[in-house]
Amino acid sequence: MEPLKGLILSGGAGTRLRPITHTSAKQLVPVANKPVLFYGIEALVEAGVTDIVIVIAPETGDEIREAVGDGSKFGARVTYVVQDAPRGLAHAVLTAEEALGHGPFIMYLGDNLLRDGVRALADRFREGESDALILLTKVPDPWHYGVAELDGERVVRLVEKPKDPPSDMALVGVYLFGPAIFEAARAIKPSWRNELEITDAIQHLIDNGARVESRTVTGWWKDTGQLADMLEANRLVLEDLERSIEGEIESARIEGRVAVAPGARIERSLVRGPAIIGPGAVITDSYIGPYTSIDRDVVVEHSEVQHSILLAGAKVLSLETRMEASLLGRNVTLKRGERRPRTISMIVGDNSEITLP
Ligand code: DAU
Repeated sequence: MEPLKGLILSGGAGTRLRPITHTSAKQLVPVANKPVLFYGIEALVEAGVTDIVIVIAPETGDEIREAVGDGSKFGARVTYVVQDAPRGLAHAVLTAEEALGHGPFIMYLGDNLLRDGVRALADRFREGESDALILLTKVPDPWHYGVAELDGERVVRLVEKPKDPPSDMALVGVYLFGPAIFEAARAIKPSWRNELEITDAIQHLIDNGARVESRTVTGWWKDTGQLADMLEANRLVLEDLERSIEGEIESARIEGRVAVAPGARIERSLVRGPAIIGPGAVITDSYIGPYTSIDRDVVVEHSEVQHSILLAGAKVLSLETRMEASLLGRNVTLKRGERRPRTISMIVGDNSEITLP
């Protein structure tokens, strides 16, 4: 078999993570201080896939190019293909056809995270003779995903975001394809949401007698397209964090699995892991609770934060109430006002959501 190439989809609009995604690609939102997309690239490299094509959108593509570069820092060779508009996963596959050539490839959705990576799956596909290998997992809310109807191990039918799901087995965002997928993607019509669905293209393969195999995910899987999933992914990744204290600690207590990057400073505070504190972050007179990721140059003063993601340069100052289940964008400032009367005063971007006590 020709060597397996990689295709990572990092286009799309990211509407469900606005306003963060007004200014930034959703695939670059950090989980445990590392962009979601990087986990995907690393998973491919670990599976021996080093020739990688990334599909990007015109709006957010430059930022992704800048973050990933030519892939050498991951041990990969990365090239880019611009998809003019988010017209579906199968459309993205067709956009990348020329760059991929005619060999087999593994497609990885840039906002997906799999604990156990994709090595076993890639090996299975390399050994077998199937036209497609898909990955499935049981979910409580199948209507949010592509769903498979199975007859034993055999995939009988696939439906995208069904109102009335035929099973609770969702399609995970990792797919292995032989070149037959290109014909299938060309043969289908756009769906009700006006996208060329990869689910329909795989169904087309099944209907035409191609060999479509499925495997069930081992370890957890997360699609980080929405805030709750992003926080959950952050929690799951931090569960595997190891303790390492490299920054400066002064009169502070650091409990459990906490990573403090060099150049970070923690004073008169309690940090209870799992939590990660990025370079240049300054935490003073505060409490940082479990499942918190604090990115570079964040400032937390006289405040309590837990189960949250704070992006680079965010500031949390003198809050009276503990903050939790929050995602703060880059350079966002959240502070308690000193003046009377005690009013609420804010400048907030489009589509933000704020819950006050
Ligand atoms: O996460 C798993 C699910 O991913 C599957 O269960 C579904 O069958 C599959 O259709 C997909 O559903 P989503 O609605 O979650 O896909 P989303 O629009 O979030 O796009 C997934 C990734 O692909 C994301 O990183 C953006 C990128 N993308 C998306 C579209 C529609 C592109 O690069 N181009 C596109 O045209």
